[in-house]
Amino acid sequence: MRSGDVVRVRLYPVQASEQQVLTRRAATFHVMPTVEYLNYEVLDDHGWDMEDDDLFEKAADAGLDDEDYGELEVNHGEYILEAAEAQGYDWPFSCRAGACANCAAIITEGEIHMDMQQILSTEEVDERGVRLTCIGSPETEEVQIVYNAKHLDYLQNRVI
Ligand code: FES
Repeated sequence: MRSGDVVRVRLYPVQASEQQVLTRRAATFHVMPTVEYLNYEVLDDHGWDMEDDDLFEKAADAGLDDEDYGELEVNHGEYILEAAEAQGYDWPFSCRAGACANCAAIITEGEIHMDMQQILSTEEVDERGVRLTCIGSPETEEVQIVYNAKHLDYLQNRVI
């Protein structure tokens, strides 16, 4: 090639890989946290126990009503109780301020951030996984809870 020769360069569009497309989509669309829920009250009816490893698998196969088992999408920062109510569900509550156990749920997967709760012991939160849905928002993209946990014996003294 001599100086002064014209060089033609053709540019071909590069096909983005599937992974690149997914990464771009994830950056573009905000993924909403999902809460898979199960009503504590149906456990007895089916002979299930909170300690069952396959509790949610059994619930998924049991043909339960939407009110008793299903999934909720929760906006970032939205309280889980509010998201359930927005879906038309009648979950238990009383104070809506972290001062009773009416809205209690047991977390079995993921994490929930609670604002200023004053009613649960450290052991109940850390060891038993109790969370208050009226002041609790998902901290992980996927959360699994057994709601209506106010029926548990050790929470009875704080149910209004
Ligand atoms: S309703 Fe009382 S702590 Fe949630």
